[in-house]
Amino acid sequence: MSSPEFLPMTAEDVRRLRDRLDAAGRKLVFTNGCFDLLHAGHVRYLNQARALGDAMVVAVNSDASVRALKGPARPVNNENDRAEVLAALRAVDAVVVFDDERATRLISAIRPHIYAKGGDYTVDSLNAEERAALDAAGASIHILPLVPGRSTTATLKRAATPEKSARLCLGVLGSGVGSNFQAILKAIQNGTLDAEVAIAISDQADSPFLETARAAGIHAQFVNPGANPRRLSDAAQKEIAEHLQRAGVDLVVLAGFMKILRAPVLDAFSDRVINVHPSLLPRHKGADAPQQALDAGDAESGCTVHLVNAEVDSGRTLAQARVPVLPGDTAETLHARIKEAEHKLLPGVLAEWQA
Ligand code: GRF
Repeated sequence: MSSPEFLPMTAEDVRRLRDRLDAAGRKLVFTNGCFDLLHAGHVRYLNQARALGDAMVVAVNSDASVRALKGPARPVNNENDRAEVLAALRAVDAVVVFDDERATRLISAIRPHIYAKGGDYTVDSLNAEERAALDAAGASIHILPLVPGRSTTATLKRAATPEKSARLCLGVLGSGVGSNFQAILKAIQNGTLDAEVAIAISDQADSPFLETARAAGIHAQFVNPGANPRRLSDAAQKEIAEHLQRAGVDLVVLAGFMKILRAPVLDAFSDRVINVHPSLLPRHKGADAPQQALDAGDAESGCTVHLVNAEVDSGRTLAQARVPVLPGDTAETLHARIKEAEHKLLPGVLAEWQA
């Protein structure tokens, strides 16, 4: 005998639930999403969201709206199945299916007390209409942290290529030319590095670095660095950490990234962030290392791949390569020679990393 078909609630049902809670001085939490392939990241997130109030409604995107948001290959599970699975969770008191890409209309109809959203957003990056509907309902907004490496996209990827699960998954950050990034991609292409680049992030919207990513069909993400040109804002640090986690990155590579990373990136990827620097560290830290080598009259220079910690160019050295300083060198000619060495050294370190 087949079990009776699961029926999600209507917006009116949920509004009544909200009014009952309200009359009793209790709070309804509202969250929304596609919840296509439920994973531990969803469950942890939903438990945290539910703990913000006294009952929770999950608004699930309909099949049509998932297609509009994620492309024709999604959803993997249809809306009724997704709603039924969600409704069985301890954290979930009600499930409603909605057809729009945004939950704006539903928020206005339900008027939840609390709105929870997964951490790939900031309060400021919420859709403006959704935000206005929440403000009109008097809802408080909570952005909850993401669980590293857990996403439907990452799950689907693992399922599609089980034999490749040992492949190193990289997140690459750069601000400029991106020649080291190109060297990584070349090494992947010619098979000397068994890795994939899941995401490329830059603080420079128009950088050749991001162009390279786009041309290679890699997720190219600009992150607004904030108002201070010398310091990456806290919001940007958080956004970078979230992008990297969401992409399921194993190792973060700074390939000419000209900003200093702090928490939460360094906490989330402790001993898993590496940088390439154009000097033989600990000599000549900082931005103008080739010029420093010339000023010091060094006969030899080179590059260093090192782990990144909170101090600039100071983490444990993983590998170095040497190049001569030649008569008549300028900072540019020396740097170009150093970069040639970097293009071999960095992919080599990455290939070692996965071994
Ligand atoms: C490289 O010399 C690297 O050592 C330094 O920045 C430069 C980036 O060059 N951190 P590119 O953008 O990879 O060409």
